[in-house]
Amino acid sequence: MTIYYTVLFIHVVSVIGLFIALAAEGAILFRIRTAQSVDETRFFVGAFQRLRIVAIPSFLGILVGGLYLASKWGRGTFWIPFALGATLLIMLIGGLVTGKRIARLRNALSSDEIDLPIKAISAKTKDNALLISYGLRAGLGLGIVFLMTAKPDLPGSLGALAAGCGAGLLGAAWMRRASNRIGTVRCLWSQTRRFDAGQKVRFEEAQL
Ligand code: HEM
Repeated sequence: MTIYYTVLFIHVVSVIGLFIALAAEGAILFRIRTAQSVDETRFFVGAFQRLRIVAIPSFLGILVGGLYLASKWGRGTFWIPFALGATLLIMLIGGLVTGKRIARLRNALSSDEIDLPIKAISAKTKDNALLISYGLRAGLGLGIVFLMTAKPDLPGSLGALAAGCGAGLLGAAWMRRASNRIGTVRCLWSQTRRFDAGQKVRFEEAQL
């Protein structure tokens, strides 16, 4: 096995790691948006922070491996510079949009206030920018996979990345609708449980 194929293997394993991190991020974002208590939000924000363990080495493997592989391909391709630009864009959007918002949410959650109500942080947990950032990054990732496998020319490279972004944004819109629906159902469910508990107390008082 040549060095090229060894690096290609590391590059593709890193890509698998990136998509695992993206899938987990989607599931965690969903739970943060539908959380019914501050404790639940705190738990999932903590899980979000741990995604770095997979995401950072994956990005390193993708970038370092990708640059080595690209050096063997030389100049004259469109898909390589577009893939590099899109990969850097994924990192930039992740850090500037999602990273900053999750850090602000973490700060709000570490407030000294003891019974912090979930409503006090709901603007941060339901921030649509988190979903837009997620959709764009997942879509760009998908577009890059097309670039890597089909190796298109200029219009094909632009089209693949644009189509990936479109698909990612559609996915984000679906996640927004689904999480709002699930959030409402969970809210009604927890109110019903509280109501049942109240009824039980009144029943017990009547028994005394
Ligand atoms: C999120 C970012 C990336 C993803 C998802 C990705 C995905 C992939 C995949 C799936 C392959 C295997 C393709 C095949 O063997 O047919 C591959 C190969 C390759 N990638 Fe990437 N890649 C990414 C970033 C990059 C970057 C930034 C560069 C260059 C700077 C790069 C350069 C290459 C090269 C040169 C190959 C070898 C193509 C071949 O030998 O057929 N990749 N990539």
